[in-house]
Amino acid sequence: MPTPPAPIIRSVAALREQIAAWRRDGAKIGLIPTMGALHEGHLSLVRRALAAGERAVVSIFVNPTQFGPNEDFGAYPRRESEDVAKFAEAGGHLVWAPTVDEMYPAGFATHVAVTGLTDGLCGPFRPGHFQGVATVVAKLLLQVQADHAYFGQKDYQQLQVVIRMARDLDIPTGIIGVPTVREADGLALSSRNIYLSAEERRAAAQLPRVMRETAQAAFAGEAPFAHLLETARARLAAAGFGPIDYVSINDAETLAPVDGLTRPARLFVAARLGKTRLIDNIPIETTTA
Ligand code: PAF
Repeated sequence: MPTPPAPIIRSVAALREQIAAWRRDGAKIGLIPTMGALHEGHLSLVRRALAAGERAVVSIFVNPTQFGPNEDFGAYPRRESEDVAKFAEAGGHLVWAPTVDEMYPAGFATHVAVTGLTDGLCGPFRPGHFQGVATVVAKLLLQVQADHAYFGQKDYQQLQVVIRMARDLDIPTGIIGVPTVREADGLALSSRNIYLSAEERRAAAQLPRVMRETAQAAFAGEAPFAHLLETARARLAAAGFGPIDYVSINDAETLAPVDGLTRPARLFVAARLGKTRLIDNIPIETTTA
């Protein structure tokens, strides 16, 4: 028998009623914030919430304020009925899919900006992006009032921004980072991977390979980080990536660039392959995640 679809709620008022009813029953709630086009990475977050005994709420909202004027807001994949079916199949309980007007009613004038963590990596390449993310995630956390909210480590800078924002604003939801889910050849799952042509998809496998080898060399102290990063850049360019926004080793918590391993650090890359901007990161101390 097909799984019955998970209910979809589109108004804050109806969401509050459902959350209040669950709370009266003593239920725990887990939020999985997404922009839809759900893949195994998102479903791994749903499974984490379910494994914690929580009612799983997925938000599906393509947030216009986190896209720059020349970015892919219009083209971003929207496939709500497929998403709802996948979510229900995974055992999820409720879909929170507000309209843009419900999320940002006329007169909306409040924004959340997290400084410092957004100065580097994607920050300078996507002006306004993290303010859009922090604002919508603050709203989602306050709307759903979940016990935990689950985010993929693939968007590691976003995860750190959300952790900081929730801490600074005394939002009591626990923020949980979940390891990146990868294809067999190592490519990190992303809703944007569907933009890749067959040829680009083959070339994309070079990204995790170059990253893994660079992280191993950095961990082994084979050469100064600057040299390893230059080599990685050249290898990615040779594989057809470009422009390459950054290839960088940064502190895992402050996200400041580092040139040695006194604290946990990660290798971060953002690069375009054709029209698709791919980002990924891995820890330096191991080569998985
Ligand atoms: O990672 C995403 O899909 C989005 O940035 C998020 C966290 C749902 C906010 O719109």
